[in-house]
Order: sequence, then C-alpha cells, then structure tokens
Amino acid sequence: MDLKSRLNDPTLFKTDSYIKGEWVGAQTRFQVINPANMAPLAEVADIEAEGAHKAVKAAHQAFQSWKKVSPFEREVLIQRWHDLILENKDDLATLLTSEMGKPFEEAKGEIDYGAGFVTWSAQEAKRLYGETIPVQRAGTRGWTIRQPVGVVGCITPWNFPAAMITRKCAPALAAGCTIVIKPAEDTPLTALALAELADRAGFPPGVFNMITGEAKEIGPVLTGSDDVAMIGFTGSTEVGKLLMEQAAKGVKRVALELGGNAPFIIMDDADLDKAVAGVIHSKFRAGGQTCVCANRIIVQEGVADAFLAKLKPAIEAVKVGDGFDRDVKIGPVIHLEALERIEDLVRDAQDHGGTVLSGGHSLRARLGGAFFEPTLIEGASSASKIWNSEIFGPVASVYRAKDEADILAMANNTPYGLAAYVYTRDIGRVYRLSEGLDYGMVAVNAPSVGSPATPFGGVKQSGIGREGGKWGVEEFTNLKFVLLGDVE
Ligand code: SIN
Repeated sequence: MDLKSRLNDPTLFKTDSYIKGEWVGAQTRFQVINPANMAPLAEVADIEAEGAHKAVKAAHQAFQSWKKVSPFEREVLIQRWHDLILENKDDLATLLTSEMGKPFEEAKGEIDYGAGFVTWSAQEAKRLYGETIPVQRAGTRGWTIRQPVGVVGCITPWNFPAAMITRKCAPALAAGCTIVIKPAEDTPLTALALAELADRAGFPPGVFNMITGEAKEIGPVLTGSDDVAMIGFTGSTEVGKLLMEQAAKGVKRVALELGGNAPFIIMDDADLDKAVAGVIHSKFRAGGQTCVCANRIIVQEGVADAFLAKLKPAIEAVKVGDGFDRDVKIGPVIHLEALERIEDLVRDAQDHGGTVLSGGHSLRARLGGAFFEPTLIEGASSASKIWNSEIFGPVASVYRAKDEADILAMANNTPYGLAAYVYTRDIGRVYRLSEGLDYGMVAVNAPSVGSPATPFGGVKQSGIGREGGKWGVEEFTNLKFVLLGDVE
C-alpha cells in the first residue's frame, strides 16, 4: 500500500508548493525516500529561484494587511491551525515516520510538541505589550511598542519535520509577520501537510507560503531579497554561518538554532538509575539525531563503573527497526551518508583510545535501511571526532572525570553551547554547575529542555536568538520607541 492510501485523509498528501494560497508545481521534481527501506515515497516540486521570488513577493504583499489584523483575529486563525494539526495527528505522524524514520509513537509526540508552540503563540499574539517610560523633560511622554519585523524566511531541518516549523512559524504569524518556509529536502511531506492545514485554517493568501527545493537555490533568494526582513533557521553551525554571512549584506535579522555538543554530567551523588534513564531518553530520542541530545556523557570517576554497569544493559535493550513496528525505540538515521558518517565516527573513536562496550556496527545489511546499532563507547580522547562533533546517531560516548572543576572544564571545552545536563542531588552543585556551564540551556536531573513556554537557544557557535515562550514571539518584532513632546 502506498503512503497516500495509508492516510485517513489522503488530501494531506501534497507534493506541490504553496504560494499565495495556491498549490504550485515545478518543471522538475525530487524524490523523497523512506530511510527504513530506501523506497521512494513521493516526487516533490523542485522550486527554483524564480518560484522563491514569487513566494517572497506574495508574503511581502500580504504583510501590508496582515500586520494590521487585530491580534485577537490572528489568535483565532492560529488556534484553528493548532486544532487541525491535532485532529490530523495520526496522519501527520504517518508522514513523519515514513520520511524521517522516528518511531510512530514518538512522531505523534512530536506533533503534540509542535502543536504546543502553535497554541502558545496564538495566545501570545495578544500579549505583545509595550511600556511607558518616564522621560527627562517635563511635558514629554515616552513609550515603546512592538511591531512585526516583516517577511520571515524560515529554513527548517529534517530531524523535527513538524515541530521546528511550528516553533518558528506560529510565533512569527502571531507577531504579525508573514512567512516563506523552506522545509528540509529529506522531509517535505509532513511540512506540506502542515501547509494544507494552514490553508484550511483560512490564513489570507500570501500570509503562509511554503516552497520545496534545493537550499542552494532558495536560500540566497531568502537571504538576498530586500523584501525579507528576517531569517529563522535551525540546522548545522556550518550552514548557519553561511546564512548569517549572506544576511549580513542586507543587515537582516537572524535567529539561528545551530549545532550542539551537549555534555551530560553525572556527579558522584546522582541517582544513577535516573541518570541512566535520562541518558537513554536524551541520547536515543529521534535516534540520537537532535541538536540537544547527550553528546558527551561525563561521569565522575567514583561512580563511573557502577554507572556503566547499568547503562550497558539499558542500551542493549533498546529495539531498532522500522518506526511502524511495535516496541521499536530507534528508527533509521536519515540517509546512507549519515550512516557512513557514524561508522567513521566509531572507527575514529577507537583509533583515539575508545573502547566499544556495545554495538558499533551498521545494520544496513540485516535490516535493509539506514540503521545503526545502539552503541556504547568509553574513553575516546578529546582529539577524537566523537568528542568534538555532533554525533547525530545512536552512539553514547562516555568519559570519566575527576572532580567538579575538571568536569566543568571538560564540559565547556567546545565551541558549542546549546544544551547541557547535570545529574546531582547536591544543591550547591546545582547552582555552581548551572551557572558555570557556558550553555543557553541547562537541565538538572531532567533529560530534555524544550517546551512551548520556555526559551530555547544557544550561546557561542550554537546560535543566536530564542524560540519558545514570550521570547520566541518577541524575536519576530521590532521594539519601537515613541517620544511625544509637549502637548500643552
Ligand atoms: C533540535 O534538536 O533541533 C530541537 C530539539 C528540541 O526541540 O528538543
């Protein structure tokens, strides 16, 4: 049975782009592949620069009226989009698992997570408050207002094909911006279904646009057009730097959620069972392909043996397979190049003193797709690739450390600064480590950090700006100061 006929509502299966309220095809199309079996799923419109310019123009025209729509009306439309997303959760998750590979239950969880940003932003539309400011000269008044920045180009990744779209688009729309979204080439089907639902929600034509195609074709249009005010991007630091460089020519606002190299710290007073459960969740969510997942598991040496003795069987119990199969916790990685990259990381870790305690091999031959064994490595040196780069695969790499100072120095020894995790029951350590870690987010005794209400983002080379909460909506606004002179 093909993917379209597996959906309760086959009209959610879209393969054209959505510009100014119309579905628009292209002369050429590109294939979307299921990484669990390498079978083609669909052929999607390959929009070129000309189509991207049309989408920007539509968004720019629509902005002139959308920015004036009452926030209460914007709330209604955004909330309608939210409700439709939840009504179609199973279909969205079916598309998501098919093109990205994450297990179906986890895919449904992502739809809930993503919908959470939509309803939060819908509410927040009404709360973009300004302030009145006492000014120096008698008879004058000052106040601030928040206004939408304009057209936002949203470039989104494949690891969260739904939630990274909603986390950018919903707050941008709530702030009064219009949007042109370019979803990842690997996972456009979930994205296009979200566009279909936005169409049904009734956004005026041009407010919500989605174009599929190659980054090298669409990216420069978004960063180069004078009609685009801001770029919102989630993806690698390498691509983020390139976009920032391109956007700098027009002094465009950027919000960048980039790569991470998260330390997952286990102090000697931690509850080891909770720490093991935390590692399993953080490390293997989305098959280890998240920017915030445990990348360097740093354990205080006094408990390292006991911790590894608990972690090894827990990793060996994780089931790998097609995301639609029962009990599967890890699906395939996104494609075969990613699989080869992970094999190389494991080899390199061994060349740099690491010992593979579990797994370590590709399952491509046995399972047919881009599968890798859940893997546990211990003791690779800080010169290894696995220490220095985002693993983006189901490989847990453990390191021993002496004391708090040693741990902090190791954890901060990276150009990245997105998320960090600490397991401890000592309140002094909670303060010292959460304040000493050079990261945008620190989770203590918890394995995940993102939520619709809280700020998500990094420092150093992990990005600029915050998504989520009131900060995520403010990001899409300009703060304007108004001074009123003597009116007597
Ligand atoms: C990401 O990995 O890019 C996002 C993860 C999250 O929102 O938790």
